[in-house]
Amino acid sequence: MFNRICIIGVGLIGGSIARAARKNGISHNIVGYGRQQNVQNLETAKRLGVIDGYYLQIEQAVHDADCVVIATPVAAIESIFAALKPFWSEHTIYMDAGSTKGSVVAAAQRVFGFVPDNFVPAHPIAGAEQSGVEASIDDLFLNKRLIITPLGNTRTEALQKIRCFWERCGSVVSLMDVNRHDAILAATSHLPHILAFALVDMLGHKDEQSEIFKYAAGGFRDFTRIASSDPTMWRDICAANKNEIIPLIQQTREQLDKIEHLLEKDDSQQLFTIFAYANIARQRFLNQFEGNMSKSITFHVQPGGKLQGEARVPGDKSMSHRSVMLGSLAEGITHVKGFLEAEDALATLQAFRDMGVEIEGPVNGCLTIHGVGKYGLKAPKNELYLGNSGTSMRLLSGLLAGQPFNSVLTGDKSLSGRPMKRVTEPLAAMGADIKTTEKGTAPLYITGRAGQLKGIDYVMPMASAQVKSCLLLAGMYAQGETSVTEPAPTRDHTERMLAGFSYPVKKQGSKASITAEGKLTAMDIDVPSDISSAAFFLVGASIAPGSDLLLKHVGINPTRTGVIDILRLMGAKIAVLNERIVGGEPVADLHVVYSPLKGIDIPEELVPLAIDEFPVLFVAAACAAGQTRLSGAEELRVKESDRIQVMADGLLKLGVDARPTDDGMIIQGGSIDGGIVTSHGDHRIAMSFSIAGLRASAPITILDCANVNTSFPEFKDLVKHLGLDLVCEES
Ligand code: S3P
Repeated sequence: MFNRICIIGVGLIGGSIARAARKNGISHNIVGYGRQQNVQNLETAKRLGVIDGYYLQIEQAVHDADCVVIATPVAAIESIFAALKPFWSEHTIYMDAGSTKGSVVAAAQRVFGFVPDNFVPAHPIAGAEQSGVEASIDDLFLNKRLIITPLGNTRTEALQKIRCFWERCGSVVSLMDVNRHDAILAATSHLPHILAFALVDMLGHKDEQSEIFKYAAGGFRDFTRIASSDPTMWRDICAANKNEIIPLIQQTREQLDKIEHLLEKDDSQQLFTIFAYANIARQRFLNQFEGNMSKSITFHVQPGGKLQGEARVPGDKSMSHRSVMLGSLAEGITHVKGFLEAEDALATLQAFRDMGVEIEGPVNGCLTIHGVGKYGLKAPKNELYLGNSGTSMRLLSGLLAGQPFNSVLTGDKSLSGRPMKRVTEPLAAMGADIKTTEKGTAPLYITGRAGQLKGIDYVMPMASAQVKSCLLLAGMYAQGETSVTEPAPTRDHTERMLAGFSYPVKKQGSKASITAEGKLTAMDIDVPSDISSAAFFLVGASIAPGSDLLLKHVGINPTRTGVIDILRLMGAKIAVLNERIVGGEPVADLHVVYSPLKGIDIPEELVPLAIDEFPVLFVAAACAAGQTRLSGAEELRVKESDRIQVMADGLLKLGVDARPTDDGMIIQGGSIDGGIVTSHGDHRIAMSFSIAGLRASAPITILDCANVNTSFPEFKDLVKHLGLDLVCEES
């Protein structure tokens, strides 16, 4: 890629860049530059094979180099620019690796009078506590973020090459405006370093008298790890970015004052609210960034076992989303019980907090939502990140289309590949302005068209509750009536919950209609257990001899009970006990015992009523006598993964005769072998293959299970408690 790279400043970062460039074939000729007083360091770099040679004269060092990397501390970059200026070449690409970008750009402006178009400012967000070339490694940047902050005049070719440089080193590259970079880094890197240095400085002085460090434990070590970083470098970084950092120090001071005040007043409730919010926000951060970038979870399931006992699975995901959405739009305070504390529902919750809604909790599944009224949402300051949650994105697109502000909806890799035209096309017909990628996928750029949407009469081409709900929410802000007709019944939680909030919705057969006339009045919501989560146990107990299980307080809304009907047609023994209505939704306890299953042709009218349960129903089919056929389920191909293909691939690996078709699968029941399968990051696939372990003849390993946290974080503990030998390995 480059004939010769010159690294200016061969320390931890410069040395690691050289090593990574060599390892990844970016260049095989890498030289270093340093000053006379660093000659020892350059010698070491050469001896370690980090560089092929070095120069003490910058002119010689950059001669013939087609890429120059400035890897010195930020405070030295201006003098490096000045030294480079007489030898600056049109044919060379220059980049830096400084932790602040505004100061580097300003330095270039001072030296050159402008920022040269072949200079690409970059910042690898990676480091180590040790410094110096001895600490350099070739994978320092692997799976780490790298931010490039191009300027208006940066040459496209230079930008592309530098982007490619870092991608080949394994970095996850983002492009960003200089100011945004500095503001983000001030909050997430510079301020934490200042706090760690300040705390250790303060306690260190105390320690000289009272030896408090002697009793410090893990918390102190974790919090202060970064105070072991190079003090000179951090002094320079903080000085270079002080304009962004100082306001953050002021905000931190205010936050500490607030906490001091709460302690003085013994306000433990408010204190808890702050800590609980921080706890959830950190989890979201871990899931969003670390989860996407590096955390991997593998389930190891030992064969056999049976499911016995009593359990209450977590709250219904669809209802949890809707409780936050409608509670936020209501007038008054809505209390929610049984809220699903899993990533998908928490993504919705965060989106509404980002739009100015005050929501307390969740604490043990309880939320207190201070509704802002139908017209009370505020413009979010940033894009709304919805993780893996298709329901959040599709329903929010409808709600946000008619707001008086713009918004951007983003999601993880899986969500960013899922079809959004199914909502953006009918919304466009209502007058909405939503831009997607060319493929019709997220990010969704929504220009709010308050007062300009017009009702439509829409006949859905597919049976989708998400599309129906999206249009009903848009219809709450549209002129005239908005009607949606479904080709087959789909879950009706939106309609039921709107009615619960006293918002008028008209139902005539398969058509639901709404207008902007109405308001939502706060109410209390008791979310029942999710039948989609219960389904794993319904199947598990049905296929594992000796099983006897009671699942408590499960939502049995008739638009969701396809899984019970299908399993019963296959011969399962499921009793529906203690039926009752809770907050407008039917609820019951489900008693299930082992029963030999037989293969069936699954009636097509049951498909939308069991749409999320097919992965685990395929496992039931693999254990049934004879053939099971599913058709009319092409929707499964566009869920969190292509559930037809991914399940067929996994079942085949486990020795099951599973043949995928365009719109379903044909499975010949028989035995299940052990083996290694992958969930492709799809929560329901991961849990389904775990359940298959109950009837497998050897251990099953399931890769890529982190996404179980999107809907059922307690799954691994609960299934173990009930009788499956599952071990969860995190790496
Ligand atoms: C959902 C509807 C279904 C379902 C999804 C949740 C909802 O999707 O698969 O998990 O909460 O409205 P479709 O409406 O796209 O079928």
